[in-house]
Amino acid sequence: MINVLILGSGGREHAFAWKISKSSSCNKLFIAPGNAGTNDVGTNVDIEINDFNSIKKFVLINEVEIVLVGPEEPLVNGIYDFFQNDDELKNIALIGPSKQGAQLEGSKKFAKEFMFRHNIPTAKYKAFTKENLKDSSKFLESLSPPYVLKADGLAAGKGVLIINDIKEAKKELKKMICDGKFGKASSTVVIEEFLEGTELSVFALTDGISYKILPSAKDYKRIGEGDTGLNTGGMGAISPVPFADRFYIEKVEREIIKPTIKGLIKDNIRYSGFIFFGLINVKGQPKVIEYNVRMGDPETEVILPRISSDFLNLLKGINDGTFSERDLEISTEVAATVMLVSGGYPSNYEKDKLILGTDKVDKSIIFHAGTKFDDGLKTNGGRVLALTSLAENLNLALKASYDSAKQISFNKKYYRTDIGFDL
Ligand code: AMP
Ligand code: GLY
Repeated sequence: MINVLILGSGGREHAFAWKISKSSSCNKLFIAPGNAGTNDVGTNVDIEINDFNSIKKFVLINEVEIVLVGPEEPLVNGIYDFFQNDDELKNIALIGPSKQGAQLEGSKKFAKEFMFRHNIPTAKYKAFTKENLKDSSKFLESLSPPYVLKADGLAAGKGVLIINDIKEAKKELKKMICDGKFGKASSTVVIEEFLEGTELSVFALTDGISYKILPSAKDYKRIGEGDTGLNTGGMGAISPVPFADRFYIEKVEREIIKPTIKGLIKDNIRYSGFIFFGLINVKGQPKVIEYNVRMGDPETEVILPRISSDFLNLLKGINDGTFSERDLEISTEVAATVMLVSGGYPSNYEKDKLILGTDKVDKSIIFHAGTKFDDGLKTNGGRVLALTSLAENLNLALKASYDSAKQISFNKKYYRTDIGFDL
């Protein structure tokens, strides 16, 4: 029986906590800082995810054996190395890559160089800073519109610009590099070829040597119906992705997943944890748009409910050399999740709205994202609740989630009504 600590506070972390709490090997489950939902399946702990010293104290006092890191930030800040370099912590399994491995998400340039070094299909690119800015016009002119400009560093999901007009692209590039449009994150900018196709996400869990492929998923990033308007963290997701059949996933494995794991080994990059392959399907050819070094949110809310084997058991194998022998069973059921958000999100929105009706929902699993318990269940973020349903087909799963969405109310509740309809 083991004690587990999950870092994070969103729907992804509630889904992890929900799944791990069902494991027969789970003793105590802690979530820092968590939300109102995680506290129902475990115990919330008031620690900030980048406060490594407080995490250390907590882990030692509470005899935690597995630490699962939800978001990328602590990973990019080196939480794995912090554990490895500490005699008291180094035997604790921290699920996540080293600081260097986390650069696959923390630096677009690092990720691009990695992909080119290991022949992993991706868009052609060039990286620019103040030093070579004068060469950028020539490169932009060699591409056809639209132009994709990416801040190199973490920019809270906002650092990618897709611009049709070349003059505008040149102007924005200058703003990014010279005027700090995205702060330090855009002092280096990756310009890349625009790829046309359908996006999907594939996930793997690795101990650094072997890997297991998790179910595929597709998320819906824009706030508006028909995928219009501002980018959000994700307004809904489905799993599996209908066109990503066994043959397609085998292609992804052969051309992308295997070369990535081999590349990490070859480059001597310590990596145990999740790899999120953000892919685009260009006329049947999968290409990597981005790597993330964590699970997706809300993809986790449709992937974990489809895993029928003991997930904690699998995680245990990462630290004791038995990962490759452990089971990962995936149900044939289809999952859909619909995100209820606060009106105004992803721009300004209000919090502290009373949430009613969650007790009436019986067809869906409710994963809390931005919620808190304060004299009743209240909203505490832009994305509030993810309503996940499992069914024998996508239509039934979506119908169940939409029925549940109607049963829940809070002031200025908003959700997209077209999740999954394009498929
Ligand atoms: P990223 O943060 O790299 O995932 O980019 C954010 C979003 O921009 C992606 O989910 C895509 O929708 C879009 N995008 C990024 N790179 C490209 C590209 N090379 N071609 C087309 N769309 C892209
Ligand atoms: N849903 C996309 C992400 O987690 O980055």
